[in-house]
Amino acid sequence: MKRKLWTAAALIAAFGLGLAACGGSDKGGTPREQEDAAPADGAAAQAEAIYKAHCLSCHGADLGGGFGPELKNVEQRLSADEQFAVIKEGRAQMPAFGGRLSDEEIRALVEWVSAQ
Ligand code: HEC
Repeated sequence: MKRKLWTAAALIAAFGLGLAACGGSDKGGTPREQEDAAPADGAAAQAEAIYKAHCLSCHGADLGGGFGPELKNVEQRLSADEQFAVIKEGRAQMPAFGGRLSDEEIRALVEWVSAQ
């Protein structure tokens, strides 16, 4: 019994380390929309997929804006933390995504958007 518990703890620890190694925070949220992209640029590919699924309709296919403002140079107006807050908590007509996307997903999204 004791041994089983220990094994479970070791597994959980190994899993946690694995997540941290992937650049995630220690919150341990698992991405819900895993793409079968190569691990090397997995985060960017995943962020792009999330953008297409959740943001494109309002911010445009080329981030040029539409219902929402264009996001091409958003990093010149808002810091990564400010963008994170807008996406997670919403602002005016911008819906909150905190309930749908994990912190890791939002962070990857901010990084991806700022790199466009
Ligand atoms: C229903 C339409 C809609 C969707 C979907 C949407 N947004 Fe927005 N977004 C807006 C609007 C409208 C604003 C402007 C809010 C304001 O006036 O304060 C905005 C503002 C923003 C801003 C701040 C821009 C600035 O210049 O201040 C960021 C960053 C942003 N959205 C990112 C995203 C991301 C990333 C997603 C996908 C997870 C997303 N939005 C999905 C409508 C949307």
